[in-house]
Amino acid sequence: MQSNERAVMRVLAGERLWPPPVWMMRQAGRYLPEYRETRAKQPDFLKFCYDTDLAVEVTLQPIRRFGFDAAILFSDIFVVPEALGYPVRFEEGRGPVLTPLTSDLLDGLAPERAHDHLSPVMETMTRLRAELPEETTLLGFCGAPWTVACYSVAGHTTAEQTAARIGAYSDPETFQRWIDLLVEASADYLVRQLDAGADALQIFDTWAGVLDDAGFRRWCVEPTRKIVEKVRAARPGATIIGFPKGAIGRLKAYAEETGVTAVGLDWTAPLELARDVQTMLPVQGNLDPMRLVAGGDALDEGVDGVLNGLGGGPLVFNLGHGIVPQTPVAHVERMIERVRSAPDPWAGKNR
Ligand code: CP3
Repeated sequence: MQSNERAVMRVLAGERLWPPPVWMMRQAGRYLPEYRETRAKQPDFLKFCYDTDLAVEVTLQPIRRFGFDAAILFSDIFVVPEALGYPVRFEEGRGPVLTPLTSDLLDGLAPERAHDHLSPVMETMTRLRAELPEETTLLGFCGAPWTVACYSVAGHTTAEQTAARIGAYSDPETFQRWIDLLVEASADYLVRQLDAGADALQIFDTWAGVLDDAGFRRWCVEPTRKIVEKVRAARPGATIIGFPKGAIGRLKAYAEETGVTAVGLDWTAPLELARDVQTMLPVQGNLDPMRLVAGGDALDEGVDGVLNGLGGGPLVFNLGHGIVPQTPVAHVERMIERVRSAPDPWAGKNR
């Protein structure tokens, strides 16, 4: 099968499909008992990401169980800084911890080592393409430079990324240097993922929503635009989904200025605006992951809301952010069943 015949790829090319194809951000993860079992074999999370056998296995788990229309490479956004020599570790119960950014630390990085360091990820991708069902789209990804940099300034997750914002305002030179390094490394990494078998790519900008207007343009739009440009210079026509979480009022600017193929919407996106964006580009999203935890009517209403609101145009059904560990597997089954059996609300109507 040609990659452009796969359902997710058709939607990303601008087609409206009914029912819309479906996958979930963070679909390989701790809500799945089989993930927890595999993860127990490798308690060091970064080693887990670089272990080809285990990474292939956990990427395939949600595909086997639910038959999603897309698989996303199992890895993490912090393999890129780690490959550059930036100190990264994962602490049990706390998540990622990065050493706070200094210019000395940047002087000590070794970008030339990134290529070999990331080779196991490429092997994972190639094996995935060989093992996945033909009709399943394979997605690669990276973290957007701003989101990666947020953790490298604060060291860990913080609610509004105050440390990263202060860092970017008070020492923009060092900050820019780090962003530029991440742009280069991320673009190379994405090109290699395409060559290794990815059909499309997603850029996760989880912290896009905390910046002011000038900051948004400089630290979110501009680095993303450069990555898109570099990837397309190397691989013309590359399909790239941008996910600028929380960027609500700036979604149209992001869609216009970065050059991404499609935009991922979080659950807070107002419907009118989301539809406006959808007249420009295909959209992906945007069920509130907490409806998936709650289940029942809250889940059904949420699914129907996305389908009725955005199902009239090119839509890849997804969550508005990653699934959380306490989500019952039965709720995921119910969500997929409801998406796949939904009557077309636009059948026979003028859209
Ligand atoms: O979507 C997928 O299934 C593919 C794999 C994937 C992971 N992380 C695996 C992971 C992807 C696409 C990511 C992206 C990622 N990682 C982002 C951007 C998207 C988002 O969710 O906002 C960010 C900010 C990270 C950084 C990160 N990695 C954090 C903050 C944490 C700890 C919190 C948490 O959710 O566990 C991680 C760890 C992580 N990355 C896990 C997984 C499955 C959990 C690790 C475990 O098994 O304990």
